[in-house]
Amino acid sequence: MTSVTISVRHMNPTIDLLNSHRSIRRFTETPVPQDVLTTVITAAQAAASSSFLQGVTIIRVTDMDKRVALRDVANGQRYVEEAPEFLVFCADLGRSMRCCELHGGEAAKGLTEQFIIATVDTALYAQNLVVAAESVGLGICYIGALRNDPARVTEILDLPQQVYPVFGLCLGYPDQDPEVKPRLPVSVVMKENSYSTAGEAQAIAGYDEDMRAYYAARTDNQKAQGWSEQMAGLLGREGRPHMLEFLRSQGFITR
Ligand SMILES: Cc1cc2nc3c(=O)[nH]c(=O)nc-3n(C[C@H](O)[C@H](O)[C@H](O)COP(=O)(O)O)c2cc1C
Repeated sequence: MTSVTISVRHMNPTIDLLNSHRSIRRFTETPVPQDVLTTVITAAQAAASSSFLQGVTIIRVTDMDKRVALRDVANGQRYVEEAPEFLVFCADLGRSMRCCELHGGEAAKGLTEQFIIATVDTALYAQNLVVAAESVGLGICYIGALRNDPARVTEILDLPQQVYPVFGLCLGYPDQDPEVKPRLPVSVVMKENSYSTAGEAQAIAGYDEDMRAYYAARTDNQKAQGWSEQMAGLLGREGRPHMLEFLRSQGFITR
């Protein structure tokens, strides 16, 4: 499998670009030119979209008071304030519902399926933007920590019903060159014809060793931990249990 990975890795510049992704948390002060921003957002819009709903709205946050407020929601992560650009990606059913009403229909609301469609659209759109941005030398960091207090984000950005903030994105020219973080072996994530956990424990143990070596050697934020231990920390507690109530208050997943 390794030899396949290596030969694919060098196959073309797009695959090289994808394989060289790493989150950037320190940016130069160089602004992102407007035409570059427009180009990467246009590329984002080319993403596939379930039922062609195009269920996403991006809020570009240039008001520094709002940036500071969003940084505070995100545990004070300073790059939310410092990045030349900060975008909030919102799943948006409202626009399509207004179109439904425009044509005399009454939109069905609160369906879990609609929530999945809009959330998936938003993620695909964002990742297209990320790849486009990285292809022109920009660095990015997603900010899921906006969901620490999504009601506050909704208030800061005046989000209406049927719209919710999925995550933020810091964007700018990198002022650091962090190492690429190893991913799970393909054998762990890809199965053939049916789900199986055969060989999983051994492969993950090997990956834990790779991750320990990565964390021990990396420049910033060194730690002694494998990946599976991280999962124990992550899933061993209730992360953001307020989300269900919040989503319902915005008109999502009531049925
Ligand atoms: C939806 C999403 C939310 C994330 N939220 C945060 C965040 O709030 N803060 C942060 O520093 N990194 C955040 N990250 C970045 C991940 O920690 C990072 O992608 C992961 O550790 C892999 O590292 P890499 O991107 O450098 O390869 C987020 C990533 C995703 C996809």
